[in-house]
This record gives sequence, structure tokens and C-alpha cells, in this order.
Amino acid sequence: MLIYVPPHPLVKHWLAVLRTKQTPSSIFRAAASELGRILIYEAAREWLPTVDGQVETPLGVADATFVDIAQPIKVVPILRAGLVLVEQTSMVLPASQTYHVGYVRNDETLEASCYLNKLPPSFTAEDRILVSDPMLATGGTLMQVLDDIVARGASPSMIRVISIVCAPPALKLLGEKFPGLTLFTAMIDPELNDQGFIVPGLGDAGDRVYN
Ligand code: PRP
Repeated sequence: MLIYVPPHPLVKHWLAVLRTKQTPSSIFRAAASELGRILIYEAAREWLPTVDGQVETPLGVADATFVDIAQPIKVVPILRAGLVLVEQTSMVLPASQTYHVGYVRNDETLEASCYLNKLPPSFTAEDRILVSDPMLATGGTLMQVLDDIVARGASPSMIRVISIVCAPPALKLLGEKFPGLTLFTAMIDPELNDQGFIVPGLGDAGDRVYN
């Protein structure tokens, strides 16, 4: 599994805002949205399919490269908190389709269960799929979503994940099951606490956005 932590001051800045306990919900949401925009941009690098041609400028003819809108990126936000990370998708990607899934983790067992699944009946092995989940703690939530996406025909090597903070148990689990996966995250934190929260992390991302 490839893991990228973009060494960019804006990534560090928005992560710092998100980590701060006193950050109010409205700012937290804006910061997560902005960080998501940057991570989508990074994930799109050398990944978006393009078509070459020529365009007429006001003064002549130029060779031109466009993103191929015939091959839209399939975006899969994991609700709730994953939604805000892909809020600015249409600002970054010229063509995308969004398929929502909703998962909630049991506070005691840490097992995730699905309450919404809007994935298409099938993917192709050529589909480029962008999954957003801001916190990878045990990795159980993302693992279930990836299992489902792959069971519908997608190739793990064509899936990119964006996340805000990851913990070692999630990276171990995902790396073993999906070695071809590519992950973009703002930070890898050292550990989980007894309640399965990433430490130091940023708390419960869903609650901080919506409560
Ligand atoms: C949180 C978080 C991840 C998941 C990570 O979601 O946003 O989706 O837990 O945990 P895991 O890696 O151990 O599975 P939560 O279940 O709290 O739902 P929410 O986004 O609606 O708050």
C-alpha cells in the first residue's frame, strides 16, 4: 500500500485547525472541506485520464490536454464525516459521480455497520474510485467499504483513499488486505486509546462537524 502525506504547509495548517479542541463546528467544517480539496488535488495527480487535442486561442492554435470527462472519477464518501471531505469535489474534478455509503461504528465492539448503500450494482476494473473517510482508526469501516467496492468489480489498484488522520492498526489491516491501495492523508498518528479513538487525533469528526 502506498501512503502519501503531502508535505505542504496548507495541509499542516488545516490539520492544526481541525485538531484544536476550541475550533467551533462551522470552522471545523470549513477546514475539513478545504483539506479535502487539497487531498483530492493530490490524489488526482498523475491519475486523471486525459485526452490530447488542439484548441483555437484568440491568436492561434495550441496543443491542449483536457481531463477526459468520458471517464468520470467515482467518488465514495463514507457518511457522515467523509461527506465534508469531498464537499469541493466539483471544484477540483471536471467530471465525477458520487455514490454515498453510511456506516456507524459501535462504541463498545468498534464494529462498523452499514445503514446506507448507494453504490452502483457494478464497477469495472478500469473505474477510478476515490473513497473518503476522515479517520482510519481500526480500519474496520474502510475495510468493509473496500470489500464491497471490490466485490462489485473494481480493482484495488484503481482505488485512492483520502483521510485526515490514520492510526497504525488501520494501516496494518488495509496494507495486508489491499497492498495495491493508495492513501493520501494529512497525518499518521501514533496510537488508539481504549475507546478506539485516534490519539492525539481530532476527536469524533462526525460529531465535531454536525453536533
Ligand atoms: C468514525 C470515522 C470513521 C470511522 C473510523 O465514524 O469517521 O468512519 O469511525 O473507525 P474505524 O477505522 O475504527 O472503523 P463513525 O462511526 O463515528 O460515524 P460518523 O462519521 O457518522 O461520526
